Parts: sequence; C-alpha cells; structure tokens
Amino acid sequence: MRKILILAVVLAVALAFIGTALAVPPGKTVEFKGGPMGKVVFVGKKHADAGMKCNNCHPKIFKMKKGADKITMKDIYAGKFCGTCHNGEKAFKAKANCKKCHKK
Ligand code: HEC
Ligand code: HEC
Ligand code: HEC
Repeated sequence: MRKILILAVVLAVALAFIGTALAVPPGKTVEFKGGPMGKVVFVGKKHADAGMKCNNCHPKIFKMKKGADKITMKDIYAGKFCGTCHNGEKAFKAKANCKKCHKK
C-alpha cells in the first residue's frame, strides 16, 4: 500500500514536470490511419504550444494509450474526441478544414 502511494506521488510529480517542460504528449506524435482522406498526425507539441495541458485531453477526451479510442468523423462532428475543440470555437472547425488534419 505504502509503496503504491509513493509510486503515485512520484508519477504525479513526473507528469506535472513533463506538463510544463515538454511537449504534449511528451514530444510525441500520434498517427491515425484516417481512411480514404489520408492519415492524420496528431502533433503533441503544437497542442502544447497552443496552451493545452494534459488534463485538457486526458482522461476525459482520450485515453492515454494509442489506439484505445475508436475515433470516427461522426463523433468528431458531434463534438467528441478532436471535435471537443475543433468545432470552430476553441480551435479550427473540423467540417471545413479536412486537409488541416488529413494528409495524403
Ligand atoms: C489536445 C489533446 C491532448 C493533450 C493536451 C495531451 N494529449 Fe496525450 N494523447 C492525445 C491523443 C489524441 C492520444 C492518442 C489516443 C488514441 O489513440 O486513442 C494521446 C495519447 C497519449 C499517450 C499514449 C501514447 C502511446 O503511444 O500509446 C500518452 C502517454 C499521453 N497521451 C500522454 C500525455 C501527457 C503526459 C500529456 C501532457 C503533457 C498529454 N498526453 C496531453 C491527446 C492529447
Ligand atoms: C482540448 C482541445 C483540443 C483537442 C481535443 C484537439 N485539439 Fe487540435 N488544436 C487545439 C488548439 C487550441 C489548436 C490551435 C488553434 C488552431 O489551430 O485552431 C489545435 C491545433 C491543431 C492542428 C493545427 C496544427 C498546426 O499545424 O498549426 C491540428 C492538425 C490539430 N489540432 C489536430 C487535432 C487532432 C487530429 C485531434 C484529435 C486526435 C485534436 N487536434 C484534438 C485544441 C485541441
Ligand atoms: C481535427 C482533425 C480532423 C479534421 C479536421 C478532419 N478529420 Fe477526418 N478523421 C480524424 C481522425 C482523428 C480520424 C480517425 C482516424 C483513425 O482512427 O484512423 C478521422 C477519420 C476520418 C475518416 C475515416 C473514418 C470515418 O470516420 O469515416 C474519413 C472518411 C474522414 N476522417 C474524412 C474527413 C473529412 C471529409 C473531413 C473534412 C470535412 C475531415 N475528415 C476532417 C481527424 C480529422
């Protein structure tokens, strides 16, 4: 029990440090197949530079595991996943800007 607690504290401190010092998620990109429109590359750094913190996305919008969420355009247009922000208010609107996310 004690060990788990210490581990949790260490992890929390490490995540807080990463959150301020590095990109989101830590210098990483996540690539999605994206279907016929071409692949989608999610760039953590661009989101960090836009002021996004880990808890803006995790765990409410995305799980912290690549491929853990089944993302569809239907859900994005409905305001889920990327569409939570990419709705023309917090960030560019998904419906009008396919090529900002999808690259052949
Ligand atoms: C703007 C949204 C957003 C922010 C902010 C964000 N992430 Fe993520 N993160 C994602 C997405 C999207 C995925 C991929 C999820 C999926 O494929 O289902 C992901 C995946 C991850 C993964 C799994 C990567 C892998 O290869 O399995 C980790 C670890 C992670 N994020 C950590 C972080 C940390 C730490 C922060 C803060 C420094 C952070 N993320 C901030 C959107 C975000
Ligand atoms: C928590 C809010 C949030 C979520 C969720 C989010 N984004 Fe973003 N995203 C932003 C903000 C803010 C910007 C910067 C403002 C803008 O470009 O409109 C941005 C910018 C971008 C850009 C433009 C980067 C550039 O070239 O300047 C791309 C591409 C992008 N996001 C893709 C995605 C993808 C793909 C997902 C889902 C996997 C996603 N975003 C989820 C907030 C978010
Ligand atoms: C904010 C980023 C973003 C924008 C903008 C965007 N998409 Fe997507 N799209 C995604 C993501 C993420 C996936 C899921 C990819 C995966 O899991 O392989 C996806 C998947 C898809 C798919 C395949 C699966 C499905 O849901 O049908 C198609 C087709 C698609 N997008 C078309 C479009 C079109 C057309 C537009 C413009 C009207 C567009 N997308 C704009 C991020 C985006």
